[in-house]
Amino acid sequence: MNEFDLLIDLHKHNQRQGPGSPRVTEKAIELTGLLGQKNLRIADIGCGTGGQTLTLASHLDGKISAVDLFPEFLEILSVRASENGLNKRITPVEASMDKLPFGDNIFDLIWSEGAIYIMGFEKGIALWKRHLKTGGILALSDITWTTDSRPEELEQFWKKECPEIDTVSAKLEILGNQGFETIGHFILPEDCWIDHFYLPLQESYSFFLERQEQSKEAIELIANDRSEFEMYMKFKQYYSYGFYIARLL
Ligand SMILES: C[S@@+](CC[C@H](N)C(=O)[O-])C[C@H]1O[C@@H](n2cnc3c(N)ncnc32)[C@H](O)[C@@H]1O
Repeated sequence: MNEFDLLIDLHKHNQRQGPGSPRVTEKAIELTGLLGQKNLRIADIGCGTGGQTLTLASHLDGKISAVDLFPEFLEILSVRASENGLNKRITPVEASMDKLPFGDNIFDLIWSEGAIYIMGFEKGIALWKRHLKTGGILALSDITWTTDSRPEELEQFWKKECPEIDTVSAKLEILGNQGFETIGHFILPEDCWIDHFYLPLQESYSFFLERQEQSKEAIELIANDRSEFEMYMKFKQYYSYGFYIARLL
């Protein structure tokens, strides 16, 4: 099993694959100003097993293209959509976020929770905005420094994991430079990391290790996960995800 297969097997049994929660998705939806509008076209990029996709579909009217690179996640999303009577409104799209199979100016809303870092915040915005209608909304959550300074150990860890980690003001400046007007932003609270992400993941470790027959690679993956969690618990006052909601001018 390669590294991706292992990651998929670890994460696919969970409600979500990154920090977030239905409550913050709802808060961000409210900030879009799109509640009550009809027949919206929405893309949810890096949707995973659909943690936020189902919340989007139950609050907003219209159709959602749910994009992920991995069919294993999309299969689970489809089952969850059917179980919630939302399958007619959610179309799974197996594609890479740097080669989206969509035309120009078609979406009212592009959503992406915890995934734009894979391309980079600026590069992702620059590439995705052509798919938005003028006046369309972009809603992104991305790793963000919450203080102006921080311990060197932490800085080194995140610069390696995610070189574009930056402050809220730096993220807002990028949005402005890319032709967006920010209409709201906020920092994700702790429960998004602990209760909705790390704890459910940790509860699944023993089943994962059983499925993987305690392989060396599986044990290493869990060890990495644990050290990321320990880093979070030690330094959580310095970083979180920021949610950014902006309109294309
Ligand atoms: C941190 S997870 C976030 C998932 C989900 N949005 C959530 O918050 O629970 C990042 C997601 O991006 C997907 N992904 C990774 N590389 C991708 C790519 N090149 N194109 C599209 N999706 C990708 C992963 O499969 C994963 O589902």
